[in-house]
Amino acid sequence: MSAAAEKVRIVEVGPRDGLQNEKQPVPTAVKLELIERLAAAGLRDIEATAFVSPNWVPQMGDHAEVMAGLPSAERFPGVNYPVLAPNMKGYEAAVAAGAKEVAVFAAASEAFSQKNINCSIEESITRFEPILLDARQRGVRVRGYVSCVVGCPYEGAIDPGRTAEVAQRLFELGCHEVSLGDTIGVGNPRTILAMLEAVAKRVPVEKLAGHYHDTWGMAIANIHASFQFGLRTFDSSVAGLGGCPYAKGASGNVATEEVVYLLHGLGADTGVDLDALVDCAAWIGGLLQRPPSRVAAARRAGRAANCA
Ligand code: HMG
Ligand code: MG
Repeated sequence: MSAAAEKVRIVEVGPRDGLQNEKQPVPTAVKLELIERLAAAGLRDIEATAFVSPNWVPQMGDHAEVMAGLPSAERFPGVNYPVLAPNMKGYEAAVAAGAKEVAVFAAASEAFSQKNINCSIEESITRFEPILLDARQRGVRVRGYVSCVVGCPYEGAIDPGRTAEVAQRLFELGCHEVSLGDTIGVGNPRTILAMLEAVAKRVPVEKLAGHYHDTWGMAIANIHASFQFGLRTFDSSVAGLGGCPYAKGASGNVATEEVVYLLHGLGADTGVDLDALVDCAAWIGGLLQRPPSRVAAARRAGRAANCA
């Protein structure tokens, strides 16, 4: 890899987005081993858990235990472990558990906002305000998510202007970055680019992240289009784990190993060791009985790869 390779940041969301919808209980020890293996593979932003209601998302009910078992900073210096926080209660619990970065999450669709966090978009922004205020005082970083950026399971196609407005609200509240979620993976490069054009008029492109689910197999094409548009941060989930409990039919996020393969092929530097990541994907995919992603299958079959 050349010294001038463009850096791309990958936010690994497998331990949270990847596992939140898993039907079988995943022991805390397995979550912690997953996080450890991801950090060892070179991931530097690993979304660890969610401080949401265990009645709504039982799989994230061990959030405090996960935080208590995270690898030490000496073991993996510079690794961030952001966690989801939907409201003040979740934020306070996250901070008490040692979180240094939280992610608030809104939606571009009213119906999805109601189903996911039981309030309107406007109410959700009002709930985030005190979180951002307190976080600024404590030096806690806050990431913002917008869900359903191009399509919603309840409302259908979403106008790019609606996504841009919510993204701008989150950015103006003080979120250091806004992650754009194609929650149900219905986007294609045309709709994703139309959305990015609208959002980038209101939020600087270097403050945006692409968070694309892979339901229709378009996520990698959407990442390529977004990379060419100028995005340099992408969210993904090892082994393509995941799905949203409040977005029926949504499959997992794009597999991290596929994103790494694409980006290295484009000459970018992710800092991730593809072989270690594929080993991690095989391990967790085997435990959860998931078919391997195409990159994981090809790499393990020993086929030549075009990246180092
Ligand atoms: P609610 O029922 O409206 O909450 O849920 P409430 O304020 O009315 O309180 C009801 C009870 O919940 C109370 O307990 C509260 O204390 C408790 P009780 O008095 O009845 O014993 N409660 C909490 N408990 C734990 N943690 C909390 C919390 N807040 C209240 N933070 C709430 C509102 C937001 C809590 C609920 O709707 C919820 O937890 N939703 C989370 C849904 C979720 O996690 N969805 C998946 C993540 S988002 C996603 O996947 C999309 C993303 O990946 C991007 C993309 O792909 O688009 C990020
Ligand atoms: Mg998601």
